Amino acid sequence: MASVRLLVYNGLFHLSKPSVGRHSSKSRRLFSSSSRCMTVMPAWVIDKYGSNDALRFTKNASFPVINYPNEVIVKVFAAGLNPMDVSMRGGYGAATLSRKRDPLNIKQSGSEFPLILGRDVSGVIMECGLDVKYFRESDEVWAAIPPWKQGSLAEFVVLSANEVSHKPRSLTHTEAAAIPYVATTAWSALVNTGGLSKDNCTKKRILILGGSGGVGTFAIQMLKAWGAHVTVTCTQNAEHFVRGLGADHVVDYTAGPVEEPLTTLEKFDLILDNVGGDTERWALTLLKPWSGAKYITLITPFLQNMDRLGIADGMMQTAATVATKALKNLARGVHYRWGFFAPSGPALDEIREMVDAGQIRAVVEETFKFSQVPQAFNKLEKGHARGKTVVEISKGGDDCAL
Ligand SMILES: NC(=O)c1ccc[n+]([C@@H]2O[C@H](COP(=O)([O-])OP(=O)(O)OC[C@H]3O[C@@H](n4cnc5c(N)ncnc54)[C@H](OP(=O)(O)O)[C@@H]3O)[C@@H](O)[C@H]2O)c1
Repeated sequence: MASVRLLVYNGLFHLSKPSVGRHSSKSRRLFSSSSRCMTVMPAWVIDKYGSNDALRFTKNASFPVINYPNEVIVKVFAAGLNPMDVSMRGGYGAATLSRKRDPLNIKQSGSEFPLILGRDVSGVIMECGLDVKYFRESDEVWAAIPPWKQGSLAEFVVLSANEVSHKPRSLTHTEAAAIPYVATTAWSALVNTGGLSKDNCTKKRILILGGSGGVGTFAIQMLKAWGAHVTVTCTQNAEHFVRGLGADHVVDYTAGPVEEPLTTLEKFDLILDNVGGDTERWALTLLKPWSGAKYITLITPFLQNMDRLGIADGMMQTAATVATKALKNLARGVHYRWGFFAPSGPALDEIREMVDAGQIRAVVEETFKFSQVPQAFNKLEKGHARGKTVVEISKGGDDCAL
């Protein structure tokens, strides 16, 4: 154990740049950390999977270290929460995420604890690995944190530099923390899987099932900025809200079977499904057949299969399920796809430009103080999201110390 620890600390010393030059005094002021000698830091952790009772505040969470020369340590100013955090708190995806953290399966089960949740971060670069060229200490940055990494409900987080991007100048840290995870998910689904771009979206008809939550509110704005025609399903009381973000047509899913009014509309080029359940039964019939139209769902059994069946059988089951569905729908002239979150600094760079150009705004539904993390989780669990839940961790001083 001692040698492992030594290795880690060696990594810290040799893989990161020393804090010298014109940034150092500013850095010292900004990073007057509440952590003692930077070996520990305040964080909300879980030591086991469970309900909100599993959340524990500690001032002694391990301080993150730079293990690879392309990593950066970010001081967290605000953290965004997502439904994924609630699911992970309960153990969702544990099998796959543990394997991703420990590919050789060397560590004992439970080695992921104490686990820090929080998938969005906005903050300031505190330290850069030796190979990091694009960022400097004190740069203001934002990022979406992959679920297999320690999250942002802490004073500091370590990330690969290619997961990080300079924060939009027009947003506060609190606003910025509302965007990265949902934006990189929507980007991965719509751009990488759906093949959409700012150059091919004009007049395309897009349907977003579940438009009033985090992913939906971002996707509406991005697609409208790219010239698409956007139809959205949500409850009636969210109609005004999604129209304010640019939605052209809104269908209330609580007024009866939602597929009925949707069937009367002109067919769609792409459907983004943020709802799942029985939507797959009817949604693909709403696509223009034999025109390359795609249905992309974010609700997939991928992680659940691994949790339930183990990695090998879960992979087989997953491959069989998606292949069967894709082939069945291909025969009907439409494409069936699964969409996934993918961390991406370059995608966030493009999104930053759209934000600073006023094309996308942050939709912060509610903010919580660092001491109120359990309340933030309670809020998320209630559902009915109208944007994002954000935890303000530090406004630049030492206010993380509870
Ligand atoms: N595959 C991936 O990698 C990935 C990544 C990110 C997110 N996701 C998943 O994608 C989903 C959306 O994420 P999110 O962050 O946008 O969640 P969210 O912020 O909780 O939003 C979900 C929204 O859907 C609405 N809704 C619920 N049932 C609906 C229905 N039948 N028809 C239309 N709208 C409905 C909810 O509002 P009301 O309750 O008021 O209707 C809420 O506004 C979540 O299930 C999340 O786990 C998957």
